[in-house]
Formats: sequence, C-alpha cells, structure tokens
Amino acid sequence: MVVARDYASFSELRDEMKGSIGFVPTMGALHEGHLSLIRRAREENDHVIVSIFVNPTQFLEGEDLDKYPRREEADRKICELAGVDLLYLPTTDQIYEEDELCMGAPKIRGYILEGAKRPGHFDGMLQVVMKLLNLSRAERAYFGKKDAQQLILIQQMVRNYFMPVEIVPCEIVRDADGLALSSRNLYLDDDERRRALSLSRSLKKAAKLIQSGERKSEIIRAAMRGILEPEVTELEYVAIVDREFRPLEEVEPGNTIILVAAKVGQTRLIDNLWVR
Ligand code: PAF
Repeated sequence: MVVARDYASFSELRDEMKGSIGFVPTMGALHEGHLSLIRRAREENDHVIVSIFVNPTQFLEGEDLDKYPRREEADRKICELAGVDLLYLPTTDQIYEEDELCMGAPKIRGYILEGAKRPGHFDGMLQVVMKLLNLSRAERAYFGKKDAQQLILIQQMVRNYFMPVEIVPCEIVRDADGLALSSRNLYLDDDERRRALSLSRSLKKAAKLIQSGERKSEIIRAAMRGILEPEVTELEYVAIVDREFRPLEEVEPGNTIILVAAKVGQTRLIDNLWVR
C-alpha cells in the first residue's frame, strides 16, 4: 500500500494505476462497516483507493468536528491488511481553497430529515464527495446504506452532473446485538450503548409489523416511538419515505426506507431499514 498526503503525489500514484478503480471515501476511525465497503471494492475492481479526511465543511457550528475520532496509525494498518492499494490522507489545505465554489444540496431532499436537523451538512458533504470522486477517477465508489439520505443525494449529484462513476450502495453492518456500526459509537458509555439498541429494536419492530401485513406509516411510527422514547435522550425523527425520500402514508415494500435519528446522551445516532 502506498500513502499520499498531497494532491501532486496522489495524482502521480493514481496515474500509475491501470485497470478499474474502486474508491471508498471515509472520515477514518475505520470499523467493520468501512471494511465491508473496502472488501467489496477489492472484489469488484483491479485497484482500491481509500481516502481518510475529516471534512470540516460538513460539520455544523457546535458539532463534533474537534472531537471526531482520529486514529491514523490503526486506520493505516486496517487498510494495509484489507489490501488497499492507495491511501489518501489529505490535509484541509490540499482539499479546499479559501474562496471556494460551493455545492448546494437540492432544496427539498437536501433539507428534510438530516438536512433539517443539520442544515448545510449536505452542502459540505456533497462538495467533498464531488472533489474526492473527481480526484480518484474511480469506476465505482462505495457508500453504506446507513447514511441513506447521503447515499441518495450522492446518487443524485452523480446523475445531475453526469459524473462517470457508479455509486455502489452497501448493506448496513451491525454488531451482534443489532447496533449499527458507526465511528460515533465510540462516544457511548456502557449505559448509553445499551439504550442505543432501542434504535435497531424499533426498526426490528417495524419489520415485524410489516411482515404481519401492517402498512400504515402512522401505526408503525407510533410503535417505534413506543420503543424509542423511554430509552433515548432526544428523539429527533422517525420517518417513513420512499426511495426518493418522499414521505409515505403507507409502506410500499421494495420502495420504502424507515429512518430514525436520536440523541443518546450527547451522541447523535441514526439508523434505518430498507424495506424489501
Ligand atoms: O460518510 C462519511 O464518512 C462522509 O460523509 C464522507 C462520505 C466520507 C464524506 O466526507
């Protein structure tokens, strides 16, 4: 594995790669979820590029930019063992100029749910993903379904800007007890971690109700709130939307995502279920 920290050396190393490229952009603190993306990229491409960059423009004032876990040594080892060919670890000044062109998230899909709770977050996320996709010149880029709205917006960006890359959605990876893996799980103490399980439990309940024939979103959401409210510190939203992120009054199997966002202690967590 080779490591690049600046654009010039990254670009040179990228130019040397012949064949297909699979790209996995990350913010580091790598876990099994990231590894599943890297493994898939490894299986489907001749070369794998991973970037680790804690992107400041996607954090809002007062969010966890400063305390976001940074574990460069461990991450490098993980990438090496997973067969990554090129690891890009840029600094902020390698990615951003002072007076930048900005990306804007779409006015509806980019400003509901996560976009409403974190206004501006998706502008910064799309801006950096656009840059990283352009830099990597990858055939395929791999994103987890856990960040469902992020994934849908990246797919839209690629479509709207005719970008020559295939976005590959990858399944959510969970701990044995159901907790969806996230770098932010590192913030949870034992009691918070136990309470955080209410997110996946509420989604399991939703799946059960749907399996038994329930379709009404309001009934499913009420059952989920009943599981979440006693456990979480602040329930931000429980939403049932179609794959274009339009609210649904009735679940449409094959075209529905059920999403939940909540704070447990100080930690903000999200989870979701793509209804088959
Ligand atoms: O999902 C993430 O880790 C980040 O939002 C991403 C896609 C790497 C952009 O900074």
